[in-house]
Amino acid sequence: MKICKNIRSLKIELNKIQKNKCLSLIPTMGYLHLGHLSLIKKAKKRKEFTVVSIFINPKQFGPKEDLDKYPVDIKNDIEKLKKLKVELLFIPSRKEMFDYKTSAYKYKPLKIQNILCGRYRPNYFPGVADIIIRLFSIINPDKSYFGEKDYQQYIFIKKLLKKLGFKSKVISSKTIRENSGLAMSSRNQYLSIEEMKIANKLYKFLKLTKKDINDKKNISKSLIKYKNELLNAGFTKIDYLEVRTDDLRKANINSTNKRLFAAVFINKTRLIDNIKV
Ligand code: PAF
Repeated sequence: MKICKNIRSLKIELNKIQKNKCLSLIPTMGYLHLGHLSLIKKAKKRKEFTVVSIFINPKQFGPKEDLDKYPVDIKNDIEKLKKLKVELLFIPSRKEMFDYKTSAYKYKPLKIQNILCGRYRPNYFPGVADIIIRLFSIINPDKSYFGEKDYQQYIFIKKLLKKLGFKSKVISSKTIRENSGLAMSSRNQYLSIEEMKIANKLYKFLKLTKKDINDKKNISKSLIKYKNELLNAGFTKIDYLEVRTDDLRKANINSTNKRLFAAVFINKTRLIDNIKV
């Protein structure tokens, strides 16, 4: 595996790739878990030239969020990527990334960044847009892979890239879960043992909410009921528990392709998850 720490060396490596080979990018913030690895495996299985980027993007964190304590373990990440025979790892510095000129791409906020996570984390989607535009204009991959745990991010990036005229096909991959059902996330390691016991209940509650919606056919009543259940189970705050269509429009009981979205806190740790309804 080649490791490139700057854009110049990365471009030299990218220029060596055969012209007919599919170039795939899996952008990450490191501290890789099985969710990330499943995206990489998907690209590798398709025999694509697989580039993984690791960059903790400060712009997508709010002033009171966890940027300073976001977990880092580059050595371990490199081991995992080598085992999967990833062709190229890109680990740029902040200076390298933010000095890169992307003024050719005029980013206008998308409507879907005002809902769900965007409503509660106003820096998040503008920050993601900024780094995605940088990564994609440097690498220009044919394909890119994102996990469904961050479903809104996946739709956002897909729409953003299309709007800006990037050729990359944006592919999603199903959420990878612990045995308890807890969606894998680098942030899970912030949880104490006691907090983990609560976190482990989230998926069960999502499935119960889904069942209640399908049985009772009254979305708002089910959501009110299960917001209370979540709070009673030890979740300390709920940003949202909401049903939307899979393209993130408002949903009613008759909408097809509905998804249930949740963002909840256990003390300082914010967890998100979503399932099909
Ligand atoms: O999902 C993530 O890890 C990040 O939001 C991403 C897509 C790598 C952008 O920084």
